[in-house]
Amino acid sequence: MGKRTLVTSALPYANGPIHLGHLAGAYLPADFYVRFKRMKGDDIVFICGSDEHGVPITIAAEKEGVTPQDIVDRYHELNKKTFEEFGITFDYFGRTSSPVHHETSQDFFRVLHEKGIFKKKKETQLYDEKAEMFLPDRYVKGTCPHCSYEEAFGDQCEKCGTSLSPSDLIDPQSMVSGEKPVYRETEHWFLPLGDFQPKLEQWILENSNWKPNVMGQIRSWFKQGLGDRAVTRDLNWGVPVPLDHTEGKVLYVWFDAPIGYISATREWAEEKGQPDLWKQYWRDSDSDLIHFIGKDNIVFHCIMFPSVLMSYDGYVLPVNVPANEFLNLEGQKLSTSRGWAVWLHEYMNDFEPDLLRYVLGTGLPETKDADFSWKYFQDHINGELADILGNFIFRTLSFTHNYFDGKVPEPGELTAADQSLLGKITMLKKEVDKAYESFRFRDAIQASMALARAGNKYFTETEPWHLRKNNPDRCAAVLYVCCQVSAALSIFFEPIIPDACARLRSSLGIKDAKWSSLTETMLTAGQTIDKGEILFRKIEDKAITAQLDKLREQTLKTEKEAAGTKQQPVKYEPLKQTITFDDFLKLDLRTGEILTAERVPRSDKLLKVTVDIGLEKRTILAGIAKQTDPETLPGTKVIIVANLKPRKMMGTMSEGMILMAENPDGTFRFLSADAENGCTVS
Ligand code: 2FM
Ligand code: ZN
Repeated sequence: MGKRTLVTSALPYANGPIHLGHLAGAYLPADFYVRFKRMKGDDIVFICGSDEHGVPITIAAEKEGVTPQDIVDRYHELNKKTFEEFGITFDYFGRTSSPVHHETSQDFFRVLHEKGIFKKKKETQLYDEKAEMFLPDRYVKGTCPHCSYEEAFGDQCEKCGTSLSPSDLIDPQSMVSGEKPVYRETEHWFLPLGDFQPKLEQWILENSNWKPNVMGQIRSWFKQGLGDRAVTRDLNWGVPVPLDHTEGKVLYVWFDAPIGYISATREWAEEKGQPDLWKQYWRDSDSDLIHFIGKDNIVFHCIMFPSVLMSYDGYVLPVNVPANEFLNLEGQKLSTSRGWAVWLHEYMNDFEPDLLRYVLGTGLPETKDADFSWKYFQDHINGELADILGNFIFRTLSFTHNYFDGKVPEPGELTAADQSLLGKITMLKKEVDKAYESFRFRDAIQASMALARAGNKYFTETEPWHLRKNNPDRCAAVLYVCCQVSAALSIFFEPIIPDACARLRSSLGIKDAKWSSLTETMLTAGQTIDKGEILFRKIEDKAITAQLDKLREQTLKTEKEAAGTKQQPVKYEPLKQTITFDDFLKLDLRTGEILTAERVPRSDKLLKVTVDIGLEKRTILAGIAKQTDPETLPGTKVIIVANLKPRKMMGTMSEGMILMAENPDGTFRFLSADAENGCTVS
């Protein structure tokens, strides 16, 4: 068994389905890596799970009018299933709502608290007076102080990537009520990251082989100087703070989520019946820890979580954090709120996983942002998977089947050209190995495809269809070489397109995909192989047009829905002239109950309503006929102005006025009190 390694992929928020941007960031590269290492026989455990806490979840729940639990249950199941079906081979997919996770993250908090690591500080934070709540993280929107982007969130500006505090925002606005928040004092626990900076810097400097995009961000954090970071929040959804008198406070989601990697490994070990096994991966310095993430998660994985692990003591720190940049879609930033996204579970209704694994793999945002387009998808499948790899395999296997009785031919004497192609297997093996080990998956794919390209060229140039008639021995040697190259390709491409490689290996009679078995002579002359099958069908233009239409329709629909639910800003009536208290006392307000209500003949506005106000019954004309159905009114509690001078309207005397609040859209609500009829109101 090779090196022991724990690989993690960022825990996706369980507030929506997985899209291509997620996949290209933290999941597909990790799966490529893990599959490669498993082929090499390494002791590797691959961990992920749902991130079920924090503001992203509560906001999604509020938007839909359901509970946070409903949201996380729905998306945990969907995402788990989608990953499985797409062939992301997690050893364990946990969730942060699990009891083991609550216990583990509370233990971390308690231990750090007992060690005196945290600072407890009172500070003023944004508060929504209307919604009566503090506004952490994404509950506030405003203008980014760094790049002036007007839609920045309270925890991060998605445009320039800067990590923010709600109070950094210019013109903050509550996402709950749309109101301008005020400042109010609250008390929280902070991790003083500044105290860790020297240790962190020393540790990071040891890791000079990390990707430049990751090191760049880290250096800039160090340069700015690390400050205190709150690890608790005023929220009612999350892991409760495990101290006395902390009702209404939970752990900050970025404190508990990375600990989710540990809890999921514990659950994995538990499930294997070896409850202590997780310690070998987390608490044994011989084990490597690697976090696959997107660039927006760098600070949490390279600064905050390592500080927590260092403080607890005895935990390994990551040996690498190969973060990817962002993936754009059709030249635009991916946006779930605008519906500008390709959802993975929907993709799988139309195409096979291997196709997207390959295409995304060739264009991963490894060093800078990259773009996915449906045209790119079509071009790479048709031009590479179908025309090069698939074509070479099909030609080789069907030729062998048709003219060599389905048996790997005896090679006889090999020419320099034959040996050169076979030699490429050994040469590319080294190159591909190095590329995987250094997280350069695009290069690994390119080098693997170089072998298929060379094989295809060799087949065309040697013209075995002529050799068959005029030089059968030479033809046998050529097909022998092509069969060996096909076998090698079934290993080279295994991490990228595992389904196609498994089918290919089954045609070639190769049992396992082992990196060590990848040689220039994987097959023995005389060995039977199956008839070739078409591994990849070309994608027609109409399939691509359908995807583009779907994307456009989806965006239009999402925009329409968003416009429908957006609250119109309230236009307030100017305040009336001030009255004295004595003026107010002149009003006789009484509680009552509507007994009957009917339309007033020849009036489309007025309803005639009788109201029981305890001491007597009143007839009142109310201008609400357009907005309400009179049959629904009897039994409604109301408050009336009982001493308003009676007034005749449409032939009926109105003896008072019913109090109501009118919404901007013309709908209204009666004012009422839960009291007996006839009570005075003041
Ligand atoms: O950015 C995100 O989607 C977070 N849910 C990632 C969490 S990674 C880890 F810390 F759990
Ligand atoms: Zn910004």
